[in-house]
Amino acid sequence: LPSRVRTICCIGAGYVGGPTCSVIALKCPHIKVIIVDVNPLRIDAWNSEKLPVFEPGLDDVVRRCRGRNLFFSTDIDAGIREADLIFVSVNTPTKTSGVGKGFAADLHYVEACTRRIASVATSSKIIVEKSTVPCRTAASMRTILESNTSETEDGKQITFQILSNPEFLAEGTAIRDLYNPDRVLIGSLDTREGKMAAHALREVYENWVDGSKIYETGLWSSELSKLAANALLAQRISSINSLSAICEATGADVSEVAHACGLDARIGPKFLKASIGFGGSCFQKDILNLVYLSESLGLTEVAAYWHQVILMNEYQKSRFARKVVQTLFNTITMKKVAVLGFAFKKDTGDTREAPAITLCKSFRQEKAFISIYDPKVPREQILLDLTEPGVVDDFEAVRAQVTIAPSPEEACRDAEAVVICTEWDEFAQKAEDEWRGIYATMKKPAFVFDGRGVVDAQTLRKIGFRVHTVGKGP
Ligand code: NAD
Ligand code: UGA
Repeated sequence: LPSRVRTICCIGAGYVGGPTCSVIALKCPHIKVIIVDVNPLRIDAWNSEKLPVFEPGLDDVVRRCRGRNLFFSTDIDAGIREADLIFVSVNTPTKTSGVGKGFAADLHYVEACTRRIASVATSSKIIVEKSTVPCRTAASMRTILESNTSETEDGKQITFQILSNPEFLAEGTAIRDLYNPDRVLIGSLDTREGKMAAHALREVYENWVDGSKIYETGLWSSELSKLAANALLAQRISSINSLSAICEATGADVSEVAHACGLDARIGPKFLKASIGFGGSCFQKDILNLVYLSESLGLTEVAAYWHQVILMNEYQKSRFARKVVQTLFNTITMKKVAVLGFAFKKDTGDTREAPAITLCKSFRQEKAFISIYDPKVPREQILLDLTEPGVVDDFEAVRAQVTIAPSPEEACRDAEAVVICTEWDEFAQKAEDEWRGIYATMKKPAFVFDGRGVVDAQTLRKIGFRVHTVGKGP
């Protein structure tokens, strides 16, 4: 087994593999990093001036390393053969059919990588689970690898050690999170070889992360900790969002409640921002995964407990959509509604599970005209997200009902309501005069529904807007 890592291959050039391994290349100039993917368009984009992922600071990292010790390629087999250590960083979406449909993680991409590694490796390697996977996935990977290993050219048995090294970066702050992680978690088997492999990975991180932040655990604890961390974070959001409904009904202010509670050191201030619901590719998927795991273990009450975090999130999104319709005199049919922000959070172009999608789909059902502005999400992505797969002529229907505006001002022209779905700084920082200009072009009464608590409701009311902010009473 390699005791020192000289070459790393990362399988999966997505939101995690790309930024994570680019930062490793930057911080470890003595290590060659090859990022591979089955998708040639993605690899072409990584090799171009316009990277496939928008992430503040990422362009600079890639520009400094690409062609030096950082390479993007579709030659997966060559990457595997050359590497001492392989990150498996492929997608693990929720299953859409078969056993566990709607809950369990679809592990077939992880398994495909594992089989590929077993069939092409010509030397012993450390395999690192970077993808978020259910507890005990490493055991299945080990069985596949051990059942398919061959010998090196000089007749020695090839061996593999599997580590779990979940990623905790958040999109929009990925580079900052990778430079300065709260912790790096490395799970290994409690054997001499397992510990040696963990040590080799630790040495990679120690090029820039303080050793005291690297926490070594058993494999299963590491795998479960990733699901647990996401579940606990999402649970805080669902908790504050449940309280936002009480605030709106009573006149309490959710930001004051969150601040008051967060001052308690045991609770802490972070992740208590009320919203139209959490989005992103992972919170929902990972909690569903945890629910499925609990059910499979016969822990029905545990499953129901975590499932409620998702149900509360669904409730928050539909409650907000209902409020828009009710406030606009119970109908938005043929009315123009402006949607500001479509990404699931600011500083990313990612729309996976974005709450804006749920909201816009419900506005579509109410037969409103929707005009959407987002500074980073491409037009075609928005239209694709709003098209119902398999519904005849929906492609044309979406294009008739939805327009993509080049600026907030254009989106809001002639609209009856503005709905803020993403907390982009440019919405929060919009000057009073700019809002005045927007107000002048809108139908009256002009409504603002602030799903992120970003605008100054007082100022907007002074202009003439009728403002509804999530978690604030009338
Ligand atoms: P992604 O969809 O952006 O990227 C995955 C990539 O893997 C795709 O480009 C796909 O083409 C490629 N791929 C799939 N099968 C392959 C194969 N057999 N060989 C080569 N390439 C293959 O996904 P992501 O957002 O980067 O997430 C990856 C994993 O990391 C998931 O398990 C996710 O839960 C986890 N994660 C994501 C985040 C995040 O912020 N997005 C954060 C932490 C953890
Ligand atoms: C989240 C976790 O924060 C990461 O640690 C984890 O690695 C990642 O999931 C993952 O496993 O994929 P991410 O989804 O990128 O990261 O972004 P977050 O900042 O967690 O935001 C998720 C959603 O929650 C967004 O829609 C955001 O707007 C919402 N949110 C967040 C709130 O509504 N309120 C808050 O207080 C915080």
